[in-house]
Amino acid sequence: MSGKAEIKLDGNSYELPVVEGTENEKAVDIGQLRAQSGLITIDPGYKNTGATKSAITFLDGEKGILRYRGYPIEELADKSSFLEVSYLLIFGELPTAAELESFQHEITNHTLIHEDFHKILDGFPSSAHPMGVLSSMVTAMTAFYPLSLDPNRSWDEVKMSIIRIIAKLPTFAAWAYKNKIGQPVVYPKNNLDYCSNFLHLMFGLPSTDHVIDPVVANALDKLLILHADHEQNCSTSTVRIVGSSQASLYASLSAGINALWGPLHGGANSAVIEMLEAIKEDGGDINKWMNKAKDKDDPFRLMGFGHRVYKNFDPRARIIKKAADEVLESLGVVDPVLDIAKGLEEVALNDPYFVERKLYPNVDFYSGIIYRALGIPTDMFTVMFAIGRLPGWIAQWKEMRENKEPIGRPRQVYTGANQRPYVDINKR
Ligand code: SDX
Repeated sequence: MSGKAEIKLDGNSYELPVVEGTENEKAVDIGQLRAQSGLITIDPGYKNTGATKSAITFLDGEKGILRYRGYPIEELADKSSFLEVSYLLIFGELPTAAELESFQHEITNHTLIHEDFHKILDGFPSSAHPMGVLSSMVTAMTAFYPLSLDPNRSWDEVKMSIIRIIAKLPTFAAWAYKNKIGQPVVYPKNNLDYCSNFLHLMFGLPSTDHVIDPVVANALDKLLILHADHEQNCSTSTVRIVGSSQASLYASLSAGINALWGPLHGGANSAVIEMLEAIKEDGGDINKWMNKAKDKDDPFRLMGFGHRVYKNFDPRARIIKKAADEVLESLGVVDPVLDIAKGLEEVALNDPYFVERKLYPNVDFYSGIIYRALGIPTDMFTVMFAIGRLPGWIAQWKEMRENKEPIGRPRQVYTGANQRPYVDINKR
């Protein structure tokens, strides 16, 4: 604890404890405010409300800092791998070589999914959005692994549930894609690493193996690292609150996938490409679209711009922007929308509307350009975000469980009708 805060109201004074984190962040603990004063606080969208104490990810929005378990995102993106980062987020420490090898081996040997999953997949028309298929398949994991329904089972059983979903999510994702394009699915290959196996599942055919380009596999691994966790964002908060009811890990993760789907959150990466394409088709007049983004009467927003926390720059956007140049050059891809994106960023960073509101490119602004260059279709971009965010969701769910946090149940301020008597229908 770090001192006390005082609230004065109607001649009364209430003292509340102040907690301080390891990065000197301070928060007023209002846990006893209602018992003391009958007061609650209100903060739609929780813009200024902490839901928990967490040791997993640290963000500093003003300084553009992002660290997983204390390690800077820049170093992890440059030196680590997605599975190593997944281990770090979930277990709290970087693995030894033996620990990582064992973790990778367990995941590799759980990538296959039960053949009865075809009955679920085949039930989806080709028009089904891959995110809906993905969240359904994750929920269906409870049917195939009923012991996973109880989050209070032994750690070894919970760990197996964790291994299974990290292993199988790429298979679900690729099979959702195959279902959409009407191609036969292919099966995981245990001699491939995590990202190479995903590319094989996505672009391979029963008749011909997909030739894995290491540039593509490495770029994908880096993108997954950059998406792996981001403290209490919308989808992670969803996973934590669903898990707080003691719903299963898979039910909590499926809820997180659905929260991520929204265009204001993980759906933004698809929306950015659709926006850039629209601007290109419209003749590429950047100023015209910037004015639309600033016009309060126009619902258009500059997708991939702005962030609840980052008010300086999103460090992930900087890394992805650099990677976009490198990957497209290495693959010999020329994508006109990349120039439009860079032009939008340059204009926005010098426009008072964006500068005053501290709106900068976020993680979604450039990621879609790389996904597209890797051959991944637009409606799979948010699925890629979900594959990346999975270890973060798991780590946050596990922390909530280990902290024995109470069921999430916010209060409200009622603004409806005061008490009134029932009126018979023939008198209304
Ligand atoms: C992600 O939380 C996370 O950590 C999320 C994430 C993660 O890793 O989990 O980082 C991933 O979701 C990134 C964000 C992806 N979404 C988008 O790119 C969609 C476009 N951006 C926004 O809609 C918006 O910026 C949000 C949703 C990201 C943040 O919204 P806030 O914090 O609620 O801010 P706001 O909507 O209240 O906007 C503040 C002002 C408003 O103007 P005024 O009312 O003050 O005049 O800024 C304006 C907004 O109109 N504004 C924008 C804008 N974003 C905010 N105006 C034009 N274009 C935009 N993109």
